[in-house]
Amino acid sequence: MSAGAPWMTAPGSGQSASRPVFLDTILADAAAPGFVMPCEDRTGALPATLAAGKPGGRFVGLGTGVGAGTAWPAHGMDLGASLTSVERDPKTQAVATAHLGQDNRVTFVQDGADQWVARNRAGSLFDLAYVDCRPGKFLRLADLLALLEPGGLYIVDDLLPQDTWPADHPNASTTSSHACPIFSTSLPHS
Ligand SMILES: C[S@@+](CC[C@H](N)C(=O)[O-])C[C@H]1O[C@@H](n2cnc3c(N)ncnc32)[C@H](O)[C@@H]1O
Repeated sequence: MSAGAPWMTAPGSGQSASRPVFLDTILADAAAPGFVMPCEDRTGALPATLAAGKPGGRFVGLGTGVGAGTAWPAHGMDLGASLTSVERDPKTQAVATAHLGQDNRVTFVQDGADQWVARNRAGSLFDLAYVDCRPGKFLRLADLLALLEPGGLYIVDDLLPQDTWPADHPNASTTSSHACPIFSTSLPHS
């Protein structure tokens, strides 16, 4: 990665090199409209680390939100890697594009993730998917997994019921996701 790339932590900035440079401003902008669902640091560190292990990798994120969960894998990606991030709410995604839009490795798509997965079913294959909305997690899981390369990685956030979920939200115990041949881990509650 070249020195001085805008998404990198500036030398001497006092920020940890292990944290995306735009993360704090993204989180500050998220707080203003009351967005309470950004990816936690301890969660984001995983896609960042895994993305770093796939130079030139092709990554996809479903549920951009305000972009915290986009900033993390982008932080780990090398210059040859690319990330497509899909979000249905343009206002929420605007926070992400305001901070990460200048990173030409990242493409933001404003669309429903279920429609996006359906449209791309016969298309590009990805090395890693990070899913933080219902499609690709509780809906269209098989279609999303079919988009992954052999050996591709699937990371899913918030499988445990969250306070922010609406009453009609499905949870892992009521879907077939446990039947998938994937390894699952959960972080301890803070
Ligand atoms: C838990 S938040 C994701 C937060 C994100 N990881 C971040 O760090 O900001 C879920 C996001 O998915 C979006 N979303 C929900 N359903 C969606 C759908 N069907 N298609 C696309 N985006 C969706 C919501 O608008 C919300 O921004």
